[in-house]
Amino acid sequence: MFHTLVAAPPDPILGLTEAFKKDHNPQKVNLGVGVYKDAAGQTPVLTAVKRAEETLLQAEKTKNYLPIEGHSEFDQATQALLLGSDPAGGSAGRAVTAQAPGGTGALRVAADFIASTLAAPRTVWLSDPTWPNHPNVFQAAGLRTASYPYFDKASNGVAFDAMLSTLESLPEGDVVVLHGCCHNPTGVDLDRAEWQAVAELLCRRHLLPLVDFAYQGFADGIREDAAGLKILMQHCPDLLVASSYSKNFGLYNERVGALTLVAESSSGAAAALSHIKRVIRANYSNPPSHGASVVAAVLTDGELRALWEEEVRAMRGRIQKMRQAFVETLQAKGVDRDFSFIARQRGMFSFSGLTAGQVQALREQHAVYVVGSGRISVAGMTEENMDYLCGAIAAVLAG
Ligand code: LMR
Repeated sequence: MFHTLVAAPPDPILGLTEAFKKDHNPQKVNLGVGVYKDAAGQTPVLTAVKRAEETLLQAEKTKNYLPIEGHSEFDQATQALLLGSDPAGGSAGRAVTAQAPGGTGALRVAADFIASTLAAPRTVWLSDPTWPNHPNVFQAAGLRTASYPYFDKASNGVAFDAMLSTLESLPEGDVVVLHGCCHNPTGVDLDRAEWQAVAELLCRRHLLPLVDFAYQGFADGIREDAAGLKILMQHCPDLLVASSYSKNFGLYNERVGALTLVAESSSGAAAALSHIKRVIRANYSNPPSHGASVVAAVLTDGELRALWEEEVRAMRGRIQKMRQAFVETLQAKGVDRDFSFIARQRGMFSFSGLTAGQVQALREQHAVYVVGSGRISVAGMTEENMDYLCGAIAAVLAG
C-alpha cells in the first residue's frame, strides 16, 4: 500500500527551514519563514510572556479540558483587541470568538465552517499573490479557490482598480480573503479610503469577508493596524476574522490564535458559534490551554499589557530599521536597481522582485534562503548578516 506512494513536495516556506537547518555554511541566512529575530539573531520569549508564565505556573490548579470554544477570558480579550472594547464601535453582542490552534488553525476552522454550514457552492477568493498555504487550507475543506488581482509589479503597490473590478464581478455569497495588515507576501496594504471602498463593495455585492490577521502591531501599531477590520465591521453584516498570536506575542510553537465571527444580530452570532463548536469538536475537540492563558493574563493586566505593547513597538521598530539598512547597504554594494520601495513596505515581508532563478542562486551559491516567489522576511535581517546578505544579492544580480 504505502510503498507505492510518491513523496509530496516540501512546503514552500517551512520546507526551506528544514533545508536551512541542514546547511553547513556558517554564514547561512534564513529569510524564508516569517519569524522575528532580534539584533542577536535570536527569536526571544517576550518578557511579558515570561512574567505571565511564572505567575501561571504557581497558580495553575488543574489540567482539565477547556471548553470547545476555548478560554473565555482569552476569547473576550481577543475580541476587544481586534474590534475595540467600545460597544459604540458596533460589535456589542454581534461578535463571538473561539480560540484556535494558531492563525492556520483558525483559518481551517473558518474553512470547515463555511464548507459545512453555509449554502454551497462557494468560491474562496484569494489575493494574487497570497500566502502559499491559503489555497491548501481552503481546498482541504473541500472549497474551491480562485484569485483576485492585488499586487501591481510596475508600481510595487496595490492594483486597486483591477482588484475592485474583479470583486465587483463575483457571484453573491462568495468569500473574499483579505489580509488585515502587513500583506503576506507583498508587504503592501490597502489605505483607509481603499478599505472603505472594498467594504462598501462587499456589502453591496453580498460577499463574505474573511480577514487573515496574523501581524497586528507590525505595521503602524496595535490599534492602528485594526483600522481596516473596523471599517469592514461597520459596513458588512457578516465577517470572519482569523487572528494569530504567533508573531505579536512570539508564541509560535504554542499555537495560539482565534476565529472571531461578527453577525448581523446576536442570535445569528450565537447560532454560528454553535456550528463553529461542532466543527472544532470534530477536528481537535478543544484547544490547548497554555498559550491562551498567557495571552489572557497579559492582555488583562495593566502592567503586563503596557510591557507587551512596548515589546511589540520595539519589534516593529527594529524591522523598520532593517528595511532602511537593507536599501542603503544594497546601494553601497553598487546595486543600481531601485529597491527603495522595500523601505515603504510594511510588516515582516518584502516582495523583492528577485526571480525564481535568482532565489535559487542565492541559496545554492550563498546559503541565503528566500521564498521562491522572491518574498524576503525582513524580520530575519540583523546588523551582523546585512553586509553578507547584500553582497550575495549584489553578486546574484550582477551574475
Ligand atoms: C510565513 O508566512 O512565513 C508564516 O506565516 C509562517 C508559516 O506558517 O508559513
